[in-house]
Amino acid sequence: MRTGILIKPIVFILLLLPALYYSYAVYLALTGGENLLGPDPAQALALVTGEWSIRILVAALAITPLRYLLNMPKLWNYRRMVGLFALFYVSLHLLVFLMFLLQWQWLDIGREIVERPYITVGFTAFILLVPLGLTSFQLAQRKMGRNWKKLHSLVYGINILAVLHILWVVRSSYFDAVLYGSLVLICLGYRIMRKYSPSVRKFAVLK
Ligand code: HEM
Repeated sequence: MRTGILIKPIVFILLLLPALYYSYAVYLALTGGENLLGPDPAQALALVTGEWSIRILVAALAITPLRYLLNMPKLWNYRRMVGLFALFYVSLHLLVFLMFLLQWQWLDIGREIVERPYITVGFTAFILLVPLGLTSFQLAQRKMGRNWKKLHSLVYGINILAVLHILWVVRSSYFDAVLYGSLVLICLGYRIMRKYSPSVRKFAVLK
């Protein structure tokens, strides 16, 4: 019980650290201080915010299977926080795109979303993530009843769109796309097998 109370703020701070570090890096860049972002700061920011988005998105997805397989019911308590952090990092990623890559050129934004498939897919993932964030609170869960579960199962589709986005945007290495794609498929496969196979349900320590 006591450890749980301590772990939650620690996880919160750990998830916030990348955003704090890169905000500091932006502050230094804007005030003429040390360059922590390399020769192309805008692209570096797009890359790191994208990487943190997918890491945390997949972590949120993995909570449910890990909860069952590791017999850790308390992992459930972290689902909302991790999910909201995923939305937070995807929003930062979008903000970097709008502010530093497109410099708030609204016409270009519409054109990019329509004409570049990887932007269309990434943007769709973001739009779908918003209602999950807005309804992640207990009151919404209670009011929505069964529909809440249906809505939140969108998280699988969002992860698939995010992996497609990365596959499309990738320039040099497919490592991230393959790694996160495999993790998403494993989580999705586990969910399907758990639903339809009693032996998989029996295998989990926690029912
Ligand atoms: C769930 C949503 C999203 C995730 C998980 C995500 C993740 C990523 C990742 C990991 C990368 C780096 C890929 C690589 O080169 O290895 C990336 C790149 C990029 N993303 Fe996203 N993204 C998402 C949504 C968006 C949205 C909404 C936009 C803009 C509307 C966007 C625009 C970009 C752009 C422009 C790049 C290329 C940056 C560059 O290297 O120049 N992404 N994204």
